Amino acid sequence: MTRSERRPRPAPGVRALKSRPQWQALKRHARKLRAKHLRDLFEADPARGTQFAAETVGLHLDYAKQRLDARAIELLLELAQACALTERIAAMFRGERINATENRAVLHVALRMPKGKRLRVDGVDVIAEVHAVLERMAAFCERVRSGAWKGYRGDRIRHVVNIGIGGSDLGPVMAHEALRAYGDRGIDCRFVSNVDGSDFAEATRDLDPARTLFIVCSKTFTTQETLANAQAARRWCLNALGDDRAIARHFVAVSTNRSEVEKFGIDPTNMFGFWDWVGGRYSMDSAIGLSTMLAIGPQRFHEMLAGFHAMDEHFRKAPLARNLPVLHALIGIWNSNFLGIDSLAVLPYAHYLKRFPAYLQQLVMESNGKRVTHAGKPVGVDTSPIVWGEPGTNGQHSFYQLIHQGTRAVACDFIGFCESTSALTAQHDLLIANMLAQGEALAFGKSAAQVRAEGVPAALVPHKVFEGNRPSSTILARRLDPFTLGALVALYEHSTFVQGAIWDIDSFDQWGVELGKVLTRRIADELTAAKTPRLSHDSSTNALIRRYRRLRGNS
Ligand code: F6P
Repeated sequence: MTRSERRPRPAPGVRALKSRPQWQALKRHARKLRAKHLRDLFEADPARGTQFAAETVGLHLDYAKQRLDARAIELLLELAQACALTERIAAMFRGERINATENRAVLHVALRMPKGKRLRVDGVDVIAEVHAVLERMAAFCERVRSGAWKGYRGDRIRHVVNIGIGGSDLGPVMAHEALRAYGDRGIDCRFVSNVDGSDFAEATRDLDPARTLFIVCSKTFTTQETLANAQAARRWCLNALGDDRAIARHFVAVSTNRSEVEKFGIDPTNMFGFWDWVGGRYSMDSAIGLSTMLAIGPQRFHEMLAGFHAMDEHFRKAPLARNLPVLHALIGIWNSNFLGIDSLAVLPYAHYLKRFPAYLQQLVMESNGKRVTHAGKPVGVDTSPIVWGEPGTNGQHSFYQLIHQGTRAVACDFIGFCESTSALTAQHDLLIANMLAQGEALAFGKSAAQVRAEGVPAALVPHKVFEGNRPSSTILARRLDPFTLGALVALYEHSTFVQGAIWDIDSFDQWGVELGKVLTRRIADELTAAKTPRLSHDSSTNALIRRYRRLRGNS
């Protein structure tokens, strides 16, 4: 009996990723390609710049500056097939309970399906429910925007404060910033997320309570930060308006948990619901987007949903080889698992997208920062990349030095638009020139010979050399508008899903955030107890608790 015969054979379909022949072939191919510089790849194929690109619903993805070739793409697509990607996509759209550890369907795609479509989950037509909520949201937003909805003292609402955290904050705040140019400037939207009271204090310090509406957003309505901030908002409102009845005019809730909303004291007629099949980080187009709809109005909100839906349809129907989210995901797998590049910088050359990297951090890392497969076995390969970023050109004057000349490899996603959303169109050309220049410099660099030819003194030559060969993709669209934002977010949502499917992990749970929450409850009591508590943590945590208590005058 040979050694390989003695090894336990995994059941079909749950084969360890690393042992798949496609994975092995990719490893061998990566070894060969590693020796090639992007300069070589471009020289060898004059059509590369147009061949390694794909386009759909107004988004053009150029991945010619990734360190791969046609064979790598072919092998990656074979891997995707072997991991039953097509079947996994279909299962999600059918409403199967693909979030296995929470036994839930994953149906953010239902949030943007047009009225009249049918999708049944547990016998319920979810599309009809989605549109019923959208209609209630629209009616409410029209009333607030027109001034028909009055505060308790009869004033028009001028300020909206969204209280929420994680998916109940990052999507709304990102969309608000991204679509500012389309927003009603008569309504000032603010966002409070952090349990640090300074967040609430700064967001409300110059607001008039009589003109302020709070949206308390929480899927569970049990999140400690959000409840603490909502209580602070309640006190702030009652201090000024002096009557419990004011709450009904100044507070609305977005949640799946009606009983907790009621317990908090918000009238359920002022509650907008959603469903357990919407993950927090996939919820910005549910009622969690109420602040977005208040800012841009129902029609623009529907344009955003149409953008999401257009990308969903592309993702569901397009062949894998021309499928934008699939290609985007496979490029990420190639970089992190085969080239060892575990960092992804998302660099929007659009200042309005300044919160997009933060939004993606939750989307990607909370979804795919997992170490075991569906079956609970170690994945055996690296999973989620580290996602970070800043808008260009600001980042260029900060961390780009490391991306160009540092020892660590970073993959970059550049995102740019052809039309300016401001009147300063000449500056827009300069902005996009910067973006294209960065991609070019990263890919091709500057050799020692080129530096010497410029007459640079020998001692300085090594400092001025740019190795190049640093991979990037560029997403170029016509204009940052609600439709395009929807399509862009859906691209990253589905790319995240595809990567999770390849790694065979549950991209829709988040058990990793639980332990800290439990420990916090215990430590909060110990920090504030009147009598010095007996501490039984590790010696470091014990010492920090004692020091904190001493400096707070608690011991
Ligand atoms: O941090 C964990 C988390 O559960 C996220 O997944 C979620 O988006 C966030 O907390 C907020 O949760 P909720 O909307 O229930 O307040």
